[in-house]
Amino acid sequence: MSDKSSINELSFEGQVALVTGAGRGLGREHALLLASRGCKVVVNDLGSAYDGAKGNEGRVADEVVAIIKAAGGEAVANYDSVENGELIVKAALEAYGRLDIVINNAGILTPEVWSDLTLESWQRTINVNLTGVFSVMKAAWPVFVEQKYGRCIVTSSPALYGAGVAAYAASKAGVIGLANSLQFEAKKLKLDIKCNILVPQADTRMTRDFGSVIDERRKKQGKSAARSAPAEVIARMSPDKVSAMVVWLSHSSCDAEATIHEAGGGYFAQLHWARSAPLFATEKDGVEGAPVPENIRDGQDTLADFANGDMPNSGDGSMGSPSALEQVFAHLKS
Ligand SMILES: NC(=O)c1ccc[n+]([C@@H]2O[C@H](COP(=O)([O-])OP(=O)(O)OC[C@H]3O[C@@H](n4cnc5c(N)ncnc54)[C@H](O)[C@@H]3O)[C@@H](O)[C@H]2O)c1
Repeated sequence: MSDKSSINELSFEGQVALVTGAGRGLGREHALLLASRGCKVVVNDLGSAYDGAKGNEGRVADEVVAIIKAAGGEAVANYDSVENGELIVKAALEAYGRLDIVINNAGILTPEVWSDLTLESWQRTINVNLTGVFSVMKAAWPVFVEQKYGRCIVTSSPALYGAGVAAYAASKAGVIGLANSLQFEAKKLKLDIKCNILVPQADTRMTRDFGSVIDERRKKQGKSAARSAPAEVIARMSPDKVSAMVVWLSHSSCDAEATIHEAGGGYFAQLHWARSAPLFATEKDGVEGAPVPENIRDGQDTLADFANGDMPNSGDGSMGSPSALEQVFAHLKS
């Protein structure tokens, strides 16, 4: 057994974190774990229903602040919507005079399938899940730049791989492009600002309420309840099993940039973009010209050849690795 005191603990003494949507679920656990490591925490949550449609469900942020304080930590509650990011960042600065970490966790899930999805529902989702991150980070960014330091995490979802909730999936894919672009900006400024992406999975109010809606929908269609994971698996998916990754990505010693990590039930994995070997499709009957659709049809093996491709760096803003682009230029010159 290792001696616990010999573990070099990740400390956040003197630092301030803002965790959005931290009144329950994943955000609550992120806030509690950061606070237990000495971080002062702004616990933001307006207390909405899981789909953002209904009004305030009570001051859940207060409960989290009370738990942190009872354990000897420091925290303040904030009840503004992430759509008004400037108010939340202002509250953090007023409370603690600095802001080192922003965990963009607040999110809603509108349950409509594509055929039922309305523009109102689409916009409500995008407003909170994507524009909310824009709004908070727009306000936090000048603080990060001024102190030449910051850690930012955005919360995506496995829905980004494709799911029956198009608005949610689109918003969760959107935050990846946003985080990659913020990392790009930070690199340009040569500042110690890191933005990373979390793809979590956990048994929370959101997943339970969404599950009930699906079951209700299936019942109306005369179908049995949706297949759910076995109870023992769900029991292992508590949201506290995700937060260790958030704490690591928030730490000053973590130099990860625009990485994407899955986290759920104590499982962690990193995702990476993969680019295939390049296909040059410009030759027809031995003559170079405009790219030819039939060459693309006939080049499927090359486009599926990831063994001879590369892994683009998120946040470098370029299409094609330097070596692939060199090949393009060499090809064009030949
Ligand atoms: N639970 C999962 O399996 C899972 C999977 C993938 C992604 N996520 C994402 O993780 C995040 C947390 O989800 P959760 O499962 O803990 O959900 P949850 O519903 O339990 O908690 C989300 C919290 O965000 C708050 N919130 C909603 N809109 C807000 C707003 N405009 N401003 C401030 N706070 C707001 C809610 O009041 C709620 O307390 C979300 O972004 C969600 O999309 C969750």
